[in-house]
Amino acid sequence: MLTAGIDVGSRTTKVVILDDGNYLTSGLLPTGANGPERAEEALKMTLDEKGLLLTDIDYIVATGYGRINVSFAQEKITEITCHALGAYAEFPNTRTIIDIGGQDSKVIRLDTAGRVEDFIMNDKCAAGTGRFLEVMAENLEIPLKEIGRVSLQTAKAAPISSTCTVFAESEVISLVARGTDKAEILRGLHLAIVKRLRGMIHRVGLEEELTMTGGVCLNQGVRKLLEENLKMKINVPERPQLVGAYGAARLARLKVAK
Ligand SMILES: Nc1ncnc2c1ncn2[C@@H]1O[C@H](COP(=O)(O)OP(=O)(O)OP(=O)(O)O)[C@@H](O)[C@H]1O
Ligand SMILES: [Mg+2]
Repeated sequence: MLTAGIDVGSRTTKVVILDDGNYLTSGLLPTGANGPERAEEALKMTLDEKGLLLTDIDYIVATGYGRINVSFAQEKITEITCHALGAYAEFPNTRTIIDIGGQDSKVIRLDTAGRVEDFIMNDKCAAGTGRFLEVMAENLEIPLKEIGRVSLQTAKAAPISSTCTVFAESEVISLVARGTDKAEILRGLHLAIVKRLRGMIHRVGLEEELTMTGGVCLNQGVRKLLEENLKMKINVPERPQLVGAYGAARLARLKVAK
C-alpha cells in the first residue's frame, strides 16, 4: 500500500512516499510563488522517479502553510500534528520538538504516547528563521550550506541585538563595513537565533528527548550552539527537512489502515 505526504512550506515543498509505512522515496522543490502547482509538480517528479502514477497512491495527506490549496490530497492536516508524528516515529522518546523552517519556528511538547500537549508557533515574521539565515548568508557572500560550520570557527561573537531580518541586516552591513571577521558575525547571528528559540522553548517547557526538524536543522551551527545553550543533546532525524511530509505520509497510512 502506497501513501504520500506533501508538506507545502513557505520555502520548500516536500513529498514523502511510503510503501506499507516504510520510506520509499522523496522529493523537494522550492515553493516559489505558485504553491498549488508546485505541489503537483513535486509529487509528479517524485512519482516519475520510481515509475509510479498518481493512481498508484492509496491516500494523500497535505500539510504545511500551503496545504489548503492541494486539491488532490484526501486530507489536510496541520504541521504541528504532522511534525509530531514524524519526529515521534523516528525518536519515540521525543518529548520536545523544535521545527525551524523558512518562515516560522515552532516548539511542540508531546506526552509519552506522542500526543501533542502544547505548542508555540511564531509565524508573524521571518525573525530568527531559515529565511533570516538565507538573507545573512547572501549579505556575507558565504553559501548557506557553509554558514553553520563557519559560525563554529570562532569563540568570539559579534554583537547582534535583533533577530528581525531587516534590523539584523543593517547590523551585519555595518559590521562588515568595520571589517569585523565574518565568522564572528555569523556566531553572533546564530547566537541571536538560539537566544530567541530558548525563550520559546521555556514557554512550552523543555523535556527530554529533544528532536529538531526543518531545513535549519541542516545548519550545524544552530544545532551545536543550541545544544550548548540548553545543555541537552538534540536528536537529528535522518532527513530533517522531510519530517513534516513523513508524518503526513504516516498519517495517510493510518487512515487507510482503519
Ligand atoms: N543545506 C542547508 N544547510 C543549511 N540550511 C539549510 C539547508 N537547506 C535549507 N536550509 C535552511 O532551511 C530553510 C528552509 O527550511 P524548510 O524547507 O523546512 O522550510 P519550509 O517548510 O518551507 O518553511 P515553513 O515551515 O516556515 O513554512 C531555509 O530557509 C534555509 O535556511
Ligand atoms: Mg515547514
